[in-house]
Amino acid sequence: MTKITAAITAVGKYLPEYILTNQELETMVDTNDEWITTRTGIKERRILKEEGAGTSFMATRAAQDLIAKNNIDPKEIDLVIVATATPDMLVASTAVFTATEIGATNAFAYDLQAACSSFLYGMSVASTYVESGRYKKVLLIGADKMSSIIDYTDRATCIIFGDGAGAVLFEPNEEGLGFQDEYLRSDGVGREFLKIDAGGSILPPSEETVKNGQHYVHQEGRTVFKFAVSNMADVSEKILERNNLTKDTVNWLVPHQANKRIIEATANRIGLDEEKVMMNIYKYGNTTSATLPLLLADYEKELKKGDNLIFAAFGGGFTWGAIYLKWAYNG
Ligand code: UT7
Repeated sequence: MTKITAAITAVGKYLPEYILTNQELETMVDTNDEWITTRTGIKERRILKEEGAGTSFMATRAAQDLIAKNNIDPKEIDLVIVATATPDMLVASTAVFTATEIGATNAFAYDLQAACSSFLYGMSVASTYVESGRYKKVLLIGADKMSSIIDYTDRATCIIFGDGAGAVLFEPNEEGLGFQDEYLRSDGVGREFLKIDAGGSILPPSEETVKNGQHYVHQEGRTVFKFAVSNMADVSEKILERNNLTKDTVNWLVPHQANKRIIEATANRIGLDEEKVMMNIYKYGNTTSATLPLLLADYEKELKKGDNLIFAAFGGGFTWGAIYLKWAYNG
């Protein structure tokens, strides 16, 4: 019997219209375009401004883009996973609402949260369902409205993050294409360095927590940077070794877009030329769970059947890892 692998067969994306430039940030906090560009590689990011619109607003549109481009019947989708660190609400699932909005009436749905590694971990989960033979069409969406948890008076965080959503469809493949291997890690020592203190079960929201700005993201950038650089490079190196891949046989690095310097350090460690490294941080910033699918959507036309892709991410928790996937169609 042919072994079933799980391949990505379609991608889609959504970005809010509003563009927050470095120049506009200069008018909001004590920063400048030169600092932001050299330290992060970011020039602008998108912000969702629509009143009352949350993460599902973007997740729905990314999924609709995928569905329309590939002529998919949403009723055939078995499962919808929304990878996100900014759900619409704390309890009611963002994925369930999204599935209903797109007409995936035969699917079940749930959210997956692992900070900036949410989509990477989601790839592991989605592909496992497909490989097992249990489900045939698994829609994985990465979406985050980071602007809803950012303090726009804190120059250490507000320059980094942006809003956006990307979606991929996993389906069975009989040619050995798609998901090949994963090396996923996590370490709770990281909790102190990248977190939102209030609003969860340890410190429920109160007048006091709001007054103290404890409902916003707090990041010790330098510490997170050091962990991100070494760990993203380590897991990328490991996944290459384990699969007998070299810098010549890898076609693309698909790295989480947190900081251009972290991406370059990862690429350097595995000896990859710049033109094999997907990058769109300059125009979207760090969209957390959406960075990886947004890269796939932006680079889709350049991808060829059989290309070897290495995904790598690092995020709060800490959570991190790398995935090796063979691309399944010509873009
Ligand atoms: O995606 C999830 C995981 N997150 C990450 O991977 C993010 C990892 N961290 C980073 O990307 C970087 O640490 C940052 C971009 C957040 C910060 O860059 P950095 O090179 O680590 O800067 P720093 O925090 O060490 O700060 C250097 C200096 C400080 O001034 P002093 O103490 O040297 O006088 C900061 O106060 O830069 C100052 N600074 C700024 N200056 C202008 C910090 N933020 C800004 C700013 N504009 N926005």
